[in-house]
Amino acid sequence: MKLEEIHEISVLGAGIMGHGIAQSFLMGGYPVWLYDIQESILGTAKERIEKNLELFYRAGLVRKEDIDLALNRLSTTADLKRAIEGSDFIVEAAPEDLPLKQDLFQRVESLCGKDTIMATNTSSLTLKDIGAGVKRKERLVITHWFNPPHIVPTVEVVKGEGTSEETMQTAYGLLMKIRKVPVKIYKELPGFLVNRIQVAMAREVFDLYERGVASAADIDKAVKGSFGFRLASIGPLLTADLGGLDLWFKVCANLLPHIQSSTDPPEVLQRLVSQGNFGIKSGKGFYDYAVDFSKTELDGTIQRRDQEFLDRLKHLYWDKKIEE
Ligand SMILES: NC(=O)c1ccc[n+]([C@@H]2O[C@H](COP(=O)([O-])OP(=O)(O)OC[C@H]3O[C@@H](n4cnc5c(N)ncnc54)[C@H](O)[C@@H]3O)[C@@H](O)[C@H]2O)c1
Repeated sequence: MKLEEIHEISVLGAGIMGHGIAQSFLMGGYPVWLYDIQESILGTAKERIEKNLELFYRAGLVRKEDIDLALNRLSTTADLKRAIEGSDFIVEAAPEDLPLKQDLFQRVESLCGKDTIMATNTSSLTLKDIGAGVKRKERLVITHWFNPPHIVPTVEVVKGEGTSEETMQTAYGLLMKIRKVPVKIYKELPGFLVNRIQVAMAREVFDLYERGVASAADIDKAVKGSFGFRLASIGPLLTADLGGLDLWFKVCANLLPHIQSSTDPPEVLQRLVSQGNFGIKSGKGFYDYAVDFSKTELDGTIQRRDQEFLDRLKHLYWDKKIEE
């Protein structure tokens, strides 16, 4: 399937990721069928998309009239056949459960067109496993989005054993067309690319916290104001080139023996999780949250975060402010 043959999109699963992925395609001008096994979630997803489009408008990223145009392109259904029968590109964002995804992909193949591209948003499973029962594996691909998917620009496009080059190119081109920032990944390693880097950093951060080297607030402040500040504009390899590879060689030689390298889950996470401290949702994590931290406050916190992300998206990635 070529990019110009793609006219309709389906998103399977309308949870945290699915509704945001659907919004990105709607904003990109595509009609979208959003499917979930629960009718009630489809209603919530539509409300969330409406609210998020309003935030995009307030940030100057879409025009007022684009909100209605996008919403008019959205159809929701709990009927899988209806969701995918006319679709050219399907993104699966159902729970991270192998038998569930395997079953879904087999049913999808029996109901969709023979050339329809079938993408999965899996974080940790392989295409080989998810697509075990799929006959035409050349049209399978991983498109791995980051939360919140309607805002974070990068999407990893990962090739599986059977994925054709045409499927890779089409998925990549489609994501470019809807103004995402796709990257092609030709080796299907666990964690793909971004999560491997993120976990490597997190292991050291959790260890520094556990050893009492600095407070949680100071660790976050230090990272945000130093390499976090730089990384939004220049990547780690360009940073290394600018700093000088001879210097990086010495820094690596001196520091790497002292950097945490355990392959067990970090001790601090083991302790916090065993105490029932899961972060904001339980009222305590690395920070304390008010005991009565309500759903409204949580929504407010997420809205403020998204507002800041949207300002950055506009500044760093959106070509120019869309005029009224
Ligand atoms: N949450 C993240 O930060 C994140 C980031 C990247 C990738 N992912 C991946 O995206 C996928 C979805 O994650 P999520 O966080 O959106 O999950 P979620 O639990 O918020 O949403 C999953 C949705 O799928 C629906 N569902 C259940 N069974 C289904 C089925 N058989 N067919 C279709 N829909 C079904 C559920 O009702 C739910 O609405 C997972 O594979 C996850 O690993 C998540």
